[in-house]
Amino acid sequence: MDAVEHYFTTTPSSRPRPNRLQVDLLGRSFCFETEAGVFSKGRVDRGTCSLIASTEFPPEGRFLDWGCGYGAIGIVAAALTHLEVWMVDLNQRAVQQARRNSVLNHVPQVVVLCADGMSAFREGSFDLIASNPPIRAGNRVVFAFIEDASRILRKTGSLSLVAQTKQGAKSIALKMERVFGNVETVDRSGGYRVLRSLRT
Ligand SMILES: C[S@@+](CC[C@H](N)C(=O)[O-])C[C@H]1O[C@@H](n2cnc3c(N)ncnc32)[C@H](O)[C@@H]1O
Repeated sequence: MDAVEHYFTTTPSSRPRPNRLQVDLLGRSFCFETEAGVFSKGRVDRGTCSLIASTEFPPEGRFLDWGCGYGAIGIVAAALTHLEVWMVDLNQRAVQQARRNSVLNHVPQVVVLCADGMSAFREGSFDLIASNPPIRAGNRVVFAFIEDASRILRKTGSLSLVAQTKQGAKSIALKMERVFGNVETVDRSGGYRVLRSLRT
């Protein structure tokens, strides 16, 4: 019998049960292979779709998709811009899928790292960080991520996060305001909020 595990388990042991999603994002068709043990295996999460639709991806620079799962956000960014895309997740199965999906979607140049948190990155490394953060992992993890993001963003870089209005958006907005000194709601639809802070 499969053990009960979270999408943020480091080494999922459940049977993989492969799945393949075909989805249109920002006017382009993408294909994502998914498996059990990763976040939103059955469809690209609605919050993730809102985040992708409302994030202003700069045409170039360095972009981090933190908590990348099977890679939707980073792969869309890599396919549609000249950004240098980095993706990070602690779930080894998600990392393998993100790597496979980058090849499947013709963006093999993205870098996908298996890491817990963001200690691998130096101060001022990124122009944009976007994430559908792991709310179920708790505020400790999400708040530490917001603090780390302010450190590894370049000046004038931005952090975009999505969260359910009824599950985390308010406390995340407060934390972003406290850490960055600013936060704005750039989209509010379908029960989700997309929040953005600028590093000044
Ligand atoms: C809500 S899911 C979003 C996945 C993907 N970005 C998407 O939108 O489909 C959050 C992701 O964060 C990852 N995660 C949780 N804690 C993490 C940590 N400390 N460091 C890196 N990734 C983490 C989880 O494994 C999970 O894949």
